[in-house]
Amino acid sequence: MFHPTLFRNPVVRKLLMAFSGLLLAGFIVAHLLGNLTVFLGPNGINAYAHHLKQLGPLLWVFRGGLLAAAGIHVSFGLLLTLENRRARPMAYYRNKPQRSTLAGRTMIYSGLCLAAFAGFHLLHFTLRLLGPEITPWLDALQRPDVFSMLVIHFRLAGFVLVYILGMGALYFHLSHGLGSMLQTFGLNNARTLPWFGLLSSLIAALLAAGFAAIPALIFFGFITVQGGAA
Ligand code: HEM
Repeated sequence: MFHPTLFRNPVVRKLLMAFSGLLLAGFIVAHLLGNLTVFLGPNGINAYAHHLKQLGPLLWVFRGGLLAAAGIHVSFGLLLTLENRRARPMAYYRNKPQRSTLAGRTMIYSGLCLAAFAGFHLLHFTLRLLGPEITPWLDALQRPDVFSMLVIHFRLAGFVLVYILGMGALYFHLSHGLGSMLQTFGLNNARTLPWFGLLSSLIAALLAAGFAAIPALIFFGFITVQGGAA
């Protein structure tokens, strides 16, 4: 169906990275908005989880798309890094990069940290294999008791630390990745470059802080099992 050399074309690879990145970023925004319903108490986030489960087969279609986007993004990201290294086998004598940022040069590391975080997170909250068991799992209205799970698990410092570090990686990765994506889509030029860089960092900071606020506020007792935000 596709010519075998198609995926060796650097423009095709960049576009695949940018489109899969856009899908993943879209999911991250939607996931944050969903998670923020925890501030409405059990009737917020448990109702939200219940509605998601009711999507039935559609939820699996969505999960399949998300997995495909993540697979493409990670595979081509690794390939790009390995090929760049092979093209420049000897480290430069004076490796002092011009016009590049730390976040830009460390995309592969922040990306791998984020992938490790996502693996941990799926074991933790989707498969519920880590931390204290929540019994009964359904609340009085027969909805998944995601609220109790979050409030009980984020009282534990180890989990909070993993989530805060994960959000550090999210910030680093998106602060460069969002701008890079706009550039691939041709929406950026020399004049707008610094502004788009600033905008990417700002959006990345808002997303990371929004997510990190949940474990942090629970840990410090601002949201409790008794009835939502204190
Ligand atoms: C403090 C931050 C976060 C919290 C509190 C949180 C919470 C949750 C919860 C409760 C679920 C399970 C929902 C359920 O099965 O009912 C979940 C699923 C998931 N989360 Fe997060 N999340 C956070 C950050 C993230 C981030 C940054 C990413 C992306 C890198 C992410 C990716 C996912 C994925 C892929 C799923 C599985 C979705 C599915 O089952 O279809 N989460 N999250």
